[in-house]
Amino acid sequence: MDNIKGLKRTCYAGDLRTSEIGKEVILMGWVQKKRNLGGLVFVDLRDRGGIAQVVFDSDISKEAFEKAEKLGSEYVIAVRGKVFERQSKNPNMSTGDIEVFAEELRVLNESQTPPIYIKDDDEVSESLRLKYRYLDLRKPKMQKNLMLRAKVANVVRNYLSNNDFCEIETPFLVKPTPEGARDYLVPSRVNEGKFYALPQSPQLYKQLLMVSGMDRYFQIVKCFRDEDLRADRQPEFTQIDCEMSFVDEDDVMSVMEGMLKDVFKQVLNREIDVPFPRMTYAEAMSRYGSDKPDTRYGLEFVNLTEVVANCGFKVFADCSKEGYSVRGINVVGGANEFTRKGISHLEDHAKTYKAKGLAWMKIAEEGVNSPIAKFFSEEELNVIQKAMGAKVGDLLLFIADKDSVVYDALGQVRIAVADKLNLADPDKFNLLWVTEFPIFEEDEENGRFVAKHHPFTSPMDEDLERLEDGDKLKLRAKAYDIVMNGYEIGGGSIRISNAQVQEKMFRALGFTDEEAYNKFGFLIDAFKFGTPPHGGLAFGLDRLVMLLAGAENIREVIAFPKNQNAICPMTNAPSIAEENQLEELSIKVDIAEKE
Ligand code: AMO
Ligand code: AMP
Repeated sequence: MDNIKGLKRTCYAGDLRTSEIGKEVILMGWVQKKRNLGGLVFVDLRDRGGIAQVVFDSDISKEAFEKAEKLGSEYVIAVRGKVFERQSKNPNMSTGDIEVFAEELRVLNESQTPPIYIKDDDEVSESLRLKYRYLDLRKPKMQKNLMLRAKVANVVRNYLSNNDFCEIETPFLVKPTPEGARDYLVPSRVNEGKFYALPQSPQLYKQLLMVSGMDRYFQIVKCFRDEDLRADRQPEFTQIDCEMSFVDEDDVMSVMEGMLKDVFKQVLNREIDVPFPRMTYAEAMSRYGSDKPDTRYGLEFVNLTEVVANCGFKVFADCSKEGYSVRGINVVGGANEFTRKGISHLEDHAKTYKAKGLAWMKIAEEGVNSPIAKFFSEEELNVIQKAMGAKVGDLLLFIADKDSVVYDALGQVRIAVADKLNLADPDKFNLLWVTEFPIFEEDEENGRFVAKHHPFTSPMDEDLERLEDGDKLKLRAKAYDIVMNGYEIGGGSIRISNAQVQEKMFRALGFTDEEAYNKFGFLIDAFKFGTPPHGGLAFGLDRLVMLLAGAENIREVIAFPKNQNAICPMTNAPSIAEENQLEELSIKVDIAEKE
């Protein structure tokens, strides 16, 4: 094997352009592809910058040519040669106008045949990609994603630093922080039988830093949540976490808008308009059935509860009571796009979100075509069509149920329809603030009230007094989410900064004073020593980068992610601990009992 002694790389292969013609270059990288055409060997040399074509001509260097003939895929090589204009240019390659004629070749390492192709459009399974992640990350697309991520972090860090935010690290071994997921626990060897939690977010620390007078804090930080994984959820993920003192909602929002504006400009060279539109939670739910609506397309909900209150279709008429509704969407021109089978797929989809069915009407020249048309008078059918702005060729879809089920299921049908009809423009970035979130939501399992954002979120001024009496589900918080193209990319709130109000909130959440003090005594105590009004927000960096990269899964923008079962297929983490490790921690594992 050769070494690189005396050779210094002059540039990345992908950076070579016609301006380099005539110059000598030294490239180092991997063999993407080799073609042997008799007297000439062509090698595509790949490095982080891209790919360049290197030609080995026995007339230029017999030694280099003979070595090149023996190269295999993913061999690591160094090449010294001269840049020439290419005879047959390749417009699909950024370096397609040039080629390098090699004068020297050094083989720095060999490679076995890789188990996955190093190219963007391979069809290999994700589990194989994750098992050989170090090879997967050689793909140009993955390298681009990681570099994009680094650039976003860099712009964010610069912006926040220039706006007086101080970057402060907070601990990973903490007392549980309540963001609504399960904790990852870490046993303490020196404190037998006791556990730290990994932070679900630095929430309490950043608030304490405001008590400390740090005024503006930020951190690009890992957070850990043991929850069901989805395309946009990882057990460990990264937040751009911010907190500010002496601010209201508008202050936090405008600083964050400035940050995203900078990110879009510097990373994608795109202008985005600020301020972003705002919509209350209640409006988002009633128009889109979601607190993170994709506003790139319409398909807005129409509330038909009153219109159908007295109709002959019992399923609809029964939903005119409090807390229930009948809502529909008009799929404009959809009558021909969805066959009965297509609608049946949508219905199955709705049912996975607890809907009992999905009623439909197609508007034809000769009238309404629908299995439920017979239950309605001509007049009622006309009123429904008018309310939904329906015309010939449209498809109307309806769900009748408890409001929460209608929102959820019809919201998902809306997304499925938009997917099928490609209604979301992939080149558009729609940013939206969703405000006035409810303070509480009901835990489906035990009927208890839990904080919708977290227990440190301030109620809206007009709802503060009603915290312990009023209809809890109607109370609103000074909480806001930032939504892009149907994803929640960030969320935050103005915090409670008064010990009594915080105690009241814990009580409203069903904690006894003793329980609250056990868990959060340090925060309640801190609030007694002069706490400034404060608030903040955290972005999900992975989600933000995923959207900027045009990817559909955050795993595409994380170097070493976990799979759907929270396993790392490359290292096989998590694994069984050594007996002596467990002994030191006084931990006994009793799996048999669970099985
Ligand atoms: P929240 O829980 O809304 O707020 O989290 C903030 C943002 O983090 C991202 N996110 C995730 N990304 C990937 N995988 C996950 N499992 C995951 N969970 C959350 C989302 C989300 O909007 N402490 C508060 C913030 C605050 O109030 O300032 C918090 O953590 O994009
Ligand atoms: P059924 O009377 O159960 O045969 O239902 C007639 C039609 O109404 C079918 O297309 C069902 O999908 C639909 N349907 C049933 N329940 C509901 C509901 N709660 N909301 C909307 N459509 C429903």
